Amino acid sequence: MKRIATWLLSFGTTLIFAAVPAILFSSATCHGADTNDPAYEMWQQDYGPTHDQRMQWWRHAKFGMFIHWGVYSVPAGVYQDQPVDHAGEWIMRTANIPVAEYAAFAKQFDPTNFNADQWVKIAKNAGMKYIVITAKHHDGFAMFHTHVDGFNIYDATPWHHDPLAELAVACRKAHIRLGFYYSEAQDWHHPGGAAANKHPDNDVDAQHHWDPAQEGSFDKYIENVDVPQVTELLSNYGPDTPAVLWWDTPIGMTPERVEKLLPLLTLKPAIITNNRLDAKRLTGDYQTPEQKIPTNGLPGDWETCMTINGTWGYKSTDHNFKSAETLIHNLVDIASKGGNYLLNVGPTSTGIIPPPEVDRLQQMGRWMKVNGQAIYGTSASPFGHPFAWGRCTEKTNADGATLYLHVWDWPTDGQLSVPGLKNHAVHAYLLKANWFGWHKRLKAVSDSNGVIVSLPESAPDKISSTLVLTIRGAPDIE
Ligand code: GLC
Repeated sequence: MKRIATWLLSFGTTLIFAAVPAILFSSATCHGADTNDPAYEMWQQDYGPTHDQRMQWWRHAKFGMFIHWGVYSVPAGVYQDQPVDHAGEWIMRTANIPVAEYAAFAKQFDPTNFNADQWVKIAKNAGMKYIVITAKHHDGFAMFHTHVDGFNIYDATPWHHDPLAELAVACRKAHIRLGFYYSEAQDWHHPGGAAANKHPDNDVDAQHHWDPAQEGSFDKYIENVDVPQVTELLSNYGPDTPAVLWWDTPIGMTPERVEKLLPLLTLKPAIITNNRLDAKRLTGDYQTPEQKIPTNGLPGDWETCMTINGTWGYKSTDHNFKSAETLIHNLVDIASKGGNYLLNVGPTSTGIIPPPEVDRLQQMGRWMKVNGQAIYGTSASPFGHPFAWGRCTEKTNADGATLYLHVWDWPTDGQLSVPGLKNHAVHAYLLKANWFGWHKRLKAVSDSNGVIVSLPESAPDKISSTLVLTIRGAPDIE
């Protein structure tokens, strides 16, 4: 009740309570935040379905595609014939490009090769279950047909499409959830928008404008750009879309500013949001480690977002692509620690996902076809630590659990040891079926150290082979 009262008071009215019976205020959790902060309790509310109900599909999904796409794909990491450091989508900030000059890139943004079905197919074939695309990044350019002003892909480019609308349709057909990224504080185009230093975490609150056209009131910016645009994003793309709202770089996002945006979420009661709306990261459903996998996972829900090369937005100069092996190991490692993997692609200004990225995703997809069962819907390893040979994920069922052992280093002596496991293995077999669809049974014996599984001579998969162990009862681990 206290929470309801504080919330309503913060909007200066108690009358609307009767009008919004559907808005249930119960507690959701984004662990890692300071739960003693009074705002935490006030902001962790549900708009219908509870946090656990809303998170269900997301927790099962495990693997999603991040898409950073915008006008920055036109300069693609090069300004005045010079390569520009830092991420491609930051080029305007890093090179201090004047507002009008940057805006002119929109005239060269003509992604006639864009095909929403094809992009969704690339994600789906990789085994990804959701997509999060940049609706507006820090450059302030809307990748959707906003009515706030003309600085958007529909009005300012020769292309005149709304790719978010096309993706929403394509995702719906393919049973892929679609989420929107929205940079709520940084906006280097609209007067009053925030601008961080070259790295977003360096200094909070500083404006760092470099063009008089950027001067203005931050509060007016939030009222005149954020509020209407977020309303459009939450209203115009169908009842299921966006499934996720992915805020970013909450510079200067004080409680007063947060409370201009947070109530908009009532438009999509089942939506999931990340923890980057408020400066103290008290709101949202999950944590967002960036470019790293937390050594011991994190409490609550979390998602590691990561680039395939070194940039989010396309850079013609970045060829430093991670190997499929690294990416598959990352996915397994993250699942074994209870998180999700949001893996980024940076399409070009012509609407193409770069072939080296597609190639990696195809390799991941081939692996997921065989091993997806050991990723989707799993929870963190009950062992609480990695093994020298690889990782473990778990699924529980009515009479016990299934342990998936992801073997990266296939033992040369044919004996895989699972130290600490006190349960006996009821069944042990290779997840990869043979030609006839049979799974090779494996011998698994218990000794005083744990379980030892006898393996065939060669690994079914050079990158990561999955063994399945079923046990009775909950895992009993020493
Ligand atoms: C950062 C960057 C940004 C990128 C994001 C992805 O905060 O500012 O460019 O979109 O991380 O997590």
